[in-house]
Amino acid sequence: MTKTIVTLAGDGIGPEIMTAGLDVLQAVAAKIGFDYQIDAKPFGGAGIDEKGHPLPEETLSAAKEADAILLAAIGGPKYDTAPVRPEQGLLAIRKALNLFANIRPVKIFEALKHLSPLKAEKIAGVDFVVVRELTGGIYFGEHTLNRDSARDVNDYTADEIRRIMRRAFQTAQNRRKLVTSIDKQNVLATSKLWRKVADEVAEEFPDVTLEHQLVDSAAMIMITNPARFDVLVTENLFGDILSDEASVLPGTLGVMPSASHSEDGPSLYEPIHGSAPDIAGQGIANPVSMILSVAMMLRESFDETAGADMIETAVDKTFEQGIFTRDLGGSATTREMTEAIIANL
Ligand code: NAD
Ligand code: IPM
Ligand code: MN
Repeated sequence: MTKTIVTLAGDGIGPEIMTAGLDVLQAVAAKIGFDYQIDAKPFGGAGIDEKGHPLPEETLSAAKEADAILLAAIGGPKYDTAPVRPEQGLLAIRKALNLFANIRPVKIFEALKHLSPLKAEKIAGVDFVVVRELTGGIYFGEHTLNRDSARDVNDYTADEIRRIMRRAFQTAQNRRKLVTSIDKQNVLATSKLWRKVADEVAEEFPDVTLEHQLVDSAAMIMITNPARFDVLVTENLFGDILSDEASVLPGTLGVMPSASHSEDGPSLYEPIHGSAPDIAGQGIANPVSMILSVAMMLRESFDETAGADMIETAVDKTFEQGIFTRDLGGSATTREMTEAIIANL
C-alpha cells in the first residue's frame, strides 16, 4: 500500500536539507520497492508567512492522517520579535500528535573522529541514545511573564514518567541493557517522582540495569567518560540540553537525526539541530542529519530495515571517501554530499 509521508521543510536550511533527504529516499525506494507519496505542508516560519500560523490547520490534519512525518528545521531571526514564533508550531505539533518519546542516537563516525573535541581514547566506543520526554515538563507548564517577575511551571504525572521510562527500558533491551535515568532529585519534586517511577519500572525489566544520575554530574560524565552510557532517559528540558551537549561528541550537529514517537499515531523524524540561519540559502548545509532521519523513518515506521541500513552504510562510505561539507572541514556542497551518498547506496 502507498505510504503517505507529510514533509515539513520549514525555514532557513530546512528546505535545502529536505530536498536532499527526499532525493535519497527516492533513490532508496526505487531499490527496495518502497511505495510512497509526499504531501508537503507549510510549517514554522513558512506557516506564519503563508497561513498566519506556525502550525496551520491543514498541516496538522495532514500530519494526523500521515503514515510518517519528516520535519527539517524551523525558526530564524526574522521571527525573534514576532507575536507568534515558529517554535510554538514545533511544540504544538509534538503535543497534538502526543509525540512523547524523542529518541536521539549518538554515535561516532570512524572517519569523523578527528573532529571531536575529545581525545581519541575518550571517544572510542561512544554509542548511546538519549531518550527525551517531549510532551511534558516545564515546556508545557504555565508560563507567566510579568514586568518584574516570571514563572514557569514544571509538571509531571507518574503516568507521563512511566511511559517514557518503559520506552527507555525497551530501547535498552535491544542494546547494552543499561538505563541511566537523569534527574535533579536533590532539589526538584518532579525529579523525586521521576526517580521513584524509574525504580518501579525497573522491576518490570529484570534484564536491564538501572542507574540514577543527577543532571549536573551527568553533564560532566558525558565529557569525561561518554562511552559508559547506553540509554539515557530524562525529562524534556534536561533532554534538550544534554542532547545538544552530546552532539558535540561526533564533532557536529549536522549528523544527528532523531525520531519522536507517540503511543500509536504517526511518528515524526527530524534533525536535532535548528534552521542554521547563519548558513541558510548558501547550499552548504550538511544534509546528513536529514538523510539519517529518513533512515530512522524507514526502519522505525515502515520496517524497511534493508533501506535504512543501505542509507547508513552509504553515509559511512561517503565519509570514508573524504567527502565532507564545511561543518566537517571539507568543501562539498549540500548537493555534492547528497549525490555522493546516492552514488554509494
Ligand atoms: P542551530 O542548530 O540552527 O545552529 C547552531 C550552529 O550549528 C550554527 O552555527 C549552524 O550553522 C550549525 N548547524 C546546524 N545545523 C547544521 C547543518 N545541518 N550543517 C551545517 N551546520 C549546521 O541553532 P541556533 O542557531 O541556536 O538556532 C537557530 C534557529 O533554529 C532558532 O530559531 C531556534 O529556535 C531554531 N531551532 C529549531 C529546531 C528545530 O527545528 N527542531 C531545533 C533547534 C533550534
Ligand atoms: C529541539 C529544539 C526545540 C526544543 C526548540 C526549537 C523549541 O531545541 O528540538 O531540540 O527545545 O525542543
Ligand atoms: Mn534543542
